[in-house]
Amino acid sequence: MGLRPWLAKMGGLGETSFMEMMIRGRRNRRTPAIRGLVRETRLAVEDLILPVFFHADAEDVAIASMPGCTRWSVVGLMKEIKEAHALGIRGVVLFPKIEEDLKDSAGSESANEAGLVPQVIREIKKSCPEMCVITDVALDPYNIDGHDGLVVKDNGGELKILNDETVEVLCRQAVCHAKAGADMVAPSDMMDGRIGAIRLALDEAGFAEVGIMAYTAKYASAFYGPFRGALDSAPKEGDKKTYQMDPGNLREAIRELLMDEEEGADIVMVKPAGPYLDVIARLRDETTLPMAAYQVSGEYLMIKAACESGWLDEKAIVMESLLGIKRAGADMILTYFAKDVAKWLI
Ligand code: PBG
Repeated sequence: MGLRPWLAKMGGLGETSFMEMMIRGRRNRRTPAIRGLVRETRLAVEDLILPVFFHADAEDVAIASMPGCTRWSVVGLMKEIKEAHALGIRGVVLFPKIEEDLKDSAGSESANEAGLVPQVIREIKKSCPEMCVITDVALDPYNIDGHDGLVVKDNGGELKILNDETVEVLCRQAVCHAKAGADMVAPSDMMDGRIGAIRLALDEAGFAEVGIMAYTAKYASAFYGPFRGALDSAPKEGDKKTYQMDPGNLREAIRELLMDEEEGADIVMVKPAGPYLDVIARLRDETTLPMAAYQVSGEYLMIKAACESGWLDEKAIVMESLLGIKRAGADMILTYFAKDVAKWLI
């Protein structure tokens, strides 16, 4: 109904009940049953990927920068993964804390077949073979400089992160993870050309079935702070702005997407998630590939802190934050809340 006849009807007090509205949005919101029928986006346990932290020590250690998260021993991690599996979670991403004396400027430990990550992959595949094991491919936990790539200093003392030389090391790391039984590798380093190079390296080594989850639009974000605390992997010098993306850029994300698609990515990712919903929505329109979004450590911590002080309701806030990420266009979400959410969904 037009505004004019409605205003005419509004002439007398008490006549609002005679409004002639053909369309009323609230009819579809009247009962839980109707709201359930018309709901457009749903979270399911199958959407969730749990990132896990671990080290070679025998102790399980609470992570100070991420309350509620633990850096597991290998034994503790297996228990955690079985628990996640029992809750219906079918994807994990592995983040190791590497011992300081194994770190060097070549990131050599990253391709050690007897190293911590290959050992953990083998154990998970033995005790929980159904779990999709995704590994992080980047040098920051292995590199003495804490950067995702190899570092040199030029004559002026300025830090440079080498691209092509790094990609070679990443290829060895990816093949090493595949040999141990990884289902997917997830390069998070943002070096140019690494998706194509890793695809070739995997294929040549006989791992054509191992997938690549590309960190396609990974922004140089302050939201990674608590994660670097968890792994002691913060850059010793400089920042990551010459390889991770500028937070102001959206078109550039599409450019990265086109490259990753052409180079053979199987899944693309946007990271962080919450502050970058427009990027998720835009890339959703630009690609037919499945898309992941990473609700990162800083997003986790903000919610945790606000809820621990009683200011917000944790369950409601977590569910809404994840639903928003799905509604924006993500098919799957990496979140430290995965186990809680799985429990809430039962
Ligand atoms: C390292 C890596 C980072 C995260 C995932 N992989 C940190 C970084 O790039 O500095 C961040 C995850 C989080 O904050 O939860 N390549």
